Order: sequence, then structure tokens, then C-alpha cells
Amino acid sequence: MKVKKAVIPAAGLGTRMLPATKTVPKEMLPLVDKPVLQYIIEEAVESGIEDILIVTNRAKSAMDDYFDYFPELEHRLYLTGREQQARELKAVADMANFFYVRQRETRGLGHAIARARRFIGDEPFAVLLGDDIMMSDVPVLKQLIDAAEKYNCPCVGGQYVSDEAVTAYSSTKLRKLEDRIYDVLDINEKPTPEEKLSNFAVMGRYVLTPDIFDILDATPPGRNGEIQLTDGLNTLCHARRMIAVDYDARRYDTGNLRGFLEATIDFALKNAETGEWLRDFLKEKARTL
Ligand code: UTP
Repeated sequence: MKVKKAVIPAAGLGTRMLPATKTVPKEMLPLVDKPVLQYIIEEAVESGIEDILIVTNRAKSAMDDYFDYFPELEHRLYLTGREQQARELKAVADMANFFYVRQRETRGLGHAIARARRFIGDEPFAVLLGDDIMMSDVPVLKQLIDAAEKYNCPCVGGQYVSDEAVTAYSSTKLRKLEDRIYDVLDINEKPTPEEKLSNFAVMGRYVLTPDIFDILDATPPGRNGEIQLTDGLNTLCHARRMIAVDYDARRYDTGNLRGFLEATIDFALKNAETGEWLRDFLKEKARTL
């Protein structure tokens, strides 16, 4: 199995980040010096992805503008001696081949992924959620692709989370295969404490096979009246082998305010330009709090 295509569902309404996200897509909010979406695309490219389909909606055209050239701006930067910056801006548009499709109705993550059928054709593909950012040594998607290739089957990424968090995500019944890799036996969306299968929640990264499309088309609306990817994954793992990787990373949900602030601070601390300054600033702040 070779994974060269990725789908980034980014057509959600971002209601947890209002009012900031009323006109700015949450995927375009700046995390230190780059939009959230650029981190996700960099992870995909570092994992070997060449073609990227972004699922958007009518309020999110800022995303396709960002991954395009901007000749007037580049020209101005050249004229004012900022050639390096101009080259960097252009390189963003050249990172991968970008494609876009609109999800015309906001009917859930499963429905958003189903929009990718024509683009994917008959290949395995990756899915990266547009607001989940990872900090890791080995790109998280690469960790999943390596496992999917080894076992030649679809693979979901996740981590063990608290009792409280598992009810907000999904829970999974697993059987251990090797360190950090499991067979998935069952999976459910936003379980109540009684429905919980384990504390392993699937979050943010997936390697899927095209048989998911027929499954998603036949999946009825689930929690919140939305077509849930989790329900489709549950059907898939009963129809064929599906594995899970407990990825080695710090994950940030930038789609909620706390996750966004945590990511901003951690990435700013790692940034060459801001790291040292922010460390001193935080120490000073902590002294006076
Ligand atoms: P989320 O639930 O995190 O995103 O969906 P949301 O719906 O934008 O968030 P809130 O709850 O209103 O704040 C997970 C991912 O699925 C995408 C989102 O863009 C996000 O990347 N999604 C969700 C779609 O593309 N389409 C949908 O209909 C729903």
C-alpha cells in the first residue's frame, strides 16, 4: 500500500471559536506565524503526501487563496529587498498539488470525507482533520502510514485520554499487536461512561481505503444528526481488518479556545524568533500572578 493522497476536511462551522471564526476559517487562525492549516499540510508533505484535497465551504475561500501565488505581493517584497521572504511565500503554494471541493451542506465529518470519492478513486488515502495539530519527532501521519503499509490495512490514529475526554471523542475496543499498534474490534462516537469501550480515543489522523466510501454513503445520521466518520469506521472494522496507532505526539485541538492557546504558547516557545523572549515573559508573568 502506498499513500500519496490526503483529504483535509475543513468545512465545519467552527462554532466553538466564535466570534473569531464568523468570517475567518478556524483553519486560517494564526498559530504564532503561520495559519493552523499550514502545519497540517507540512505534516502531510513530510509524510510523503503529494496530492491534497481540502474540503471547504462557501465561507472558506481564504484557504485556497493562501495556497496560491500572490504576484503583486511577491513583487513588492523583491523590490524592497526581501527576496527570501518572497521565495518562502511562493514555496507554500508549491508544497503539494492542491485540490478543493465544497461540502454544500454541513452534514458531518463522514459526509465531508465522502465528498472526496472522485478525487481518491481506487487508492488508499490519508485524512488529517483541519484543526488537530501535532508536535512530534516523527510526523504523526508518517507513524500511521508506516503501520498501514506494514499490515496492509486501514489505520486510525489516537491516544489514551481521560474519562472526561473520551466521552467527548470516541472510544475503541482494541487488541494489542505490538508496541503502540492494535487491532480495532469496535469503536463508538462520544460514548456515555456506560458505553465506553476503553480510554483510547481516535483523534485527528486516519489512513483509509476506498471501501469507506460505500460505507459512508450507507451510514445514517448519528450523534447530532450528522453522518459520523466513527460510525463508518465501526462498520469498516467489522468488515475487514483495521488497526490503530497510539501516536507518539503532543496533540492540540485548535478548534477550542484552550487548545488553541496551549498550541500558541508551545509553538511560540519552540520558535527561534519568539522562544527565548516568551520564556522570559512567562517567568516574569508567573512571578507577578
Ligand atoms: P469539529 O466538530 O471539530 O469541527 O469537526 P466543527 O464542526 O467546525 O466544530 P464546532 O464544534 O462547530 O466548533 C471535526 C472536523 O471535521 C470537519 C471540521 O472542519 C473539522 O476539521 N467537518 C465537520 C467538516 O468538514 N464538515 C462537517 O460537516 C463537519
